[in-house]
Amino acid sequence: MMKDIPYTFNISAATGLPDSWDRHYERRLSSMKGQFEDTAAMEAMIAENEPVLYEVYELKRPEVAGELLHGVSVIRPGQVGNEYFMTKGHFHSLLETAEVYYCLQGEGMMVMETPEGDWNVQLFAPGTVLYVPPRWAHRSVNTGKDEDLILLFVYPGDAGHDYGTIEIQGFRKLVIEKDGEVKIVDNPRWVSPERRFV
Ligand code: F6R
Ligand code: ZN
Repeated sequence: MMKDIPYTFNISAATGLPDSWDRHYERRLSSMKGQFEDTAAMEAMIAENEPVLYEVYELKRPEVAGELLHGVSVIRPGQVGNEYFMTKGHFHSLLETAEVYYCLQGEGMMVMETPEGDWNVQLFAPGTVLYVPPRWAHRSVNTGKDEDLILLFVYPGDAGHDYGTIEIQGFRKLVIEKDGEVKIVDNPRWVSPERRFV
């Protein structure tokens, strides 16, 4: 049984990585099917070397109300076509649950939207604290040239993850490189909630 006593862990100032965790996983490009606009570029990259887009280090806590799940995510630099590497993104299954992020290293953005189709994008730089209120789906994007985007996250134990909604058509906004600059553009596949089921 998990010990219920206070504990600490350290995040290295040099690497941005924790010195202890219970679960570590990698997300590769092939598990992001349908998420990048340039499907030809995506298939070519999968065939060539199947890159790791991000890694997550999690501390294990019971997934119940009252607990706070926490860990560190590391999003690699890179692009699929002109879209930057990013996380899958999700709503919390328990929609009325929030999340806090703290940027330890790198630069990037959090792309967010509500079930009603409102959208919001916030910048990450080292030291940025982001509060994602209840109801906002969230996806981290690494817009850096060669540096990892490293984020500490904390969210309620009973939040759960709903990936399905985002898998269908992605987020309303895409983060791309155009003429050497970072741009936020409309996702051409995105359909507004009112028109989704007609
Ligand atoms: C937890 C959370 C983060 C993400 C992580 C990976 O609610 O938002 O810990 O799980 O950044 O992103 P996803 O889960 O979208 O693959
Ligand atoms: Zn979350």
